[in-house]
Amino acid sequence: MNRRRSAYVFLLSSVAALGGLLFGYDTAVISGAIGFLRSHFSLDAAETGWAAASLLIGCMIGAGVAGVVSDAFGRKRALMASAVLFAGSALWSALPRGLTEFVIARVLGGVGVGMASLLSPLYIAEIAPARSRGRLVSLNQLAIVLGILLVYFVNYWIAGLGTEAWNVDVGWRWMVGSEGFPAIVFFFLLLLVPESPRWLVKQGRTDRALAVLSRLSESGQPAKELAEIQNAVSREGSSLRQLFRPGMRKALVIGIVLAVLQQVTGINVFMYYAPEIFKQVGSGTNAALFQTVIIGLFNVSFTLVAMRTVDRVGRKKLMMIGIAGMGVSLSAISLAALWNKTELWLLVFILGYIASFAMSIGPIVWVVISEIFPTRIRGRAMAISTVALWAADYLVSLTFPIINENTWLVEHFNHAFPFWIYASLCVVMFVFVWRSVPETKGKTLEEIEKLWMAG
Ligand code: BGC
Repeated sequence: MNRRRSAYVFLLSSVAALGGLLFGYDTAVISGAIGFLRSHFSLDAAETGWAAASLLIGCMIGAGVAGVVSDAFGRKRALMASAVLFAGSALWSALPRGLTEFVIARVLGGVGVGMASLLSPLYIAEIAPARSRGRLVSLNQLAIVLGILLVYFVNYWIAGLGTEAWNVDVGWRWMVGSEGFPAIVFFFLLLLVPESPRWLVKQGRTDRALAVLSRLSESGQPAKELAEIQNAVSREGSSLRQLFRPGMRKALVIGIVLAVLQQVTGINVFMYYAPEIFKQVGSGTNAALFQTVIIGLFNVSFTLVAMRTVDRVGRKKLMMIGIAGMGVSLSAISLAALWNKTELWLLVFILGYIASFAMSIGPIVWVVISEIFPTRIRGRAMAISTVALWAADYLVSLTFPIINENTWLVEHFNHAFPFWIYASLCVVMFVFVWRSVPETKGKTLEEIEKLWMAG
């Protein structure tokens, strides 16, 4: 019986995690399409940047509204809305009549990404039993990195179907449009999942919540779990001021700071610009793309390591080990850049960085921000943290080329400078996790809530 219940929870989590797959797919699809798109619409550098980064603006909006929408209409319906946005944006961005329409379509898709980035881990955290919650929420991160890897292959495959002229005219449309297929599958699978019991309790739909809990509960005591949730919900006020009460404020600061630090320690510089970095040290285009695939594979493999260890070793320890590895790797990357070392060394150090990120703060930051907030405010508090995450992503993606190509900095430090910034922020993150983040491994969401009340 228990086995069947675990399998059921796993299945529901996998469906929700498809939101993560679309998140990874949609953020990374642009890397393959942007060159052809640029020729097609004859874009200058600034327009190209705008076409590429517009998605992230949508992500901020999506993460901003997802909390309110999901608190009002439920986690399930809000996830379905994100699926509709993904599918609509895929179609429209494949058939735009100009750059402006393309950008609007991408912003809409970004709203879908932003919503899913919040709702998938939120939904999973709310249905998962405490002992496997970390692993199940990390499933979402696995889906993100699989989405990134998948779209890389899809782009590569589509580009190979025709000539350069065909790609400039048609190929890029298939790349951005291909996302419509997983989006539609996601929509229909969502029809089969139940609403989150915690949200149902909040709405006063206790019978329905109990029915869902009886199918999920591993303890075999759904009534007891229901009472715990009811108790937790009844102790919370619903006003926004609630967010800034002393106990909650601490949770909120932890959520925001972790989200921002996950980004400003540099991950998406590698996710979005890896081929360019390799070309800088002399790789040809093909080699650069091949090295990028290896990065994608490492990202997936070490996410699996995190999933196996997060509920055993704990969030805090794993994060500290990973951040230390990231800091050391970034320092090595900067020295390799400073001393003009060969691409092989650079690849080795970058892989060290990716492995350290993927086994720690890649998944765990999402785990922590989905579990540290009490139910009543979880939607909104996660929204604030997730908006902060996307804003930090936008900032890093926008500033990297500027810092990296600054003539004075290149003359004096040879492309090493940006990596020093990210490495020093690893030191900040290490100290922050060590001093301020409580261990939440194995605790139920209700026990975590009590932790803040006590504090
Ligand atoms: C981050 C994304 C990043 C991805 C890469 C996620 O945890 O939030 O910004 O692109 O990891 O693996």
